[in-house]
Amino acid sequence: MSERERTFVMAKPDAVQRGLVGEIVSRLEERGLKLVGAKFIRMSQAQAEEHYAEHTDKPFFDDLTDFITSGPVVPMVWEGQDATRQVRGIIGDTDPAEAAPGTIRGDYALDLGRNVVHAADHEDPGANEREIDLYFDEEELVDYERIDETWLYE
Ligand code: GTP
Ligand code: MG
Repeated sequence: MSERERTFVMAKPDAVQRGLVGEIVSRLEERGLKLVGAKFIRMSQAQAEEHYAEHTDKPFFDDLTDFITSGPVVPMVWEGQDATRQVRGIIGDTDPAEAAPGTIRGDYALDLGRNVVHAADHEDPGANEREIDLYFDEEELVDYERIDETWLYE
């Protein structure tokens, strides 16, 4: 059985502007994932460049950092069994045009550069720790039990 783990998720500026933050939170909550940290911030240029460091050499890097700093975002940490992989599934393919209906990107987005939500890459084992550290201090993440946990897990 997979481990319970914490994963980093962020509602992007388009989600805030389009009123989709609640929908993103709802989908993760209803799946059974537990919210253990959240903020409402505007990213600095330096934070954006660090967040997307893996894409520094890509032709779309400037558009990416301009967009992610263009308005408020909602960084979050979610916890649950196999959380990183499950969240990527709920979010859908990077390109909304390829994302399956029923996924967040497949239901709410059309364009690669406006794909509503970010989540840590489940194929990069260091991604969660790196991204959580970028936005949260340890004491800002809350340990608690959700009342439905005995009904979610065997
Ligand atoms: P994030 O959760 O935002 O990191 O998306 P991802 O992990 O699904 O994709 P990836 O990390 O590969 O790319 C980061 C972001 O860059 C994507 O969310 C896209 O918005 C954007 N992006 C990726 N590839 C392209 C591209 O070929 N062209 C453009 N314009 N944007 C891209
Ligand atoms: Mg990524």
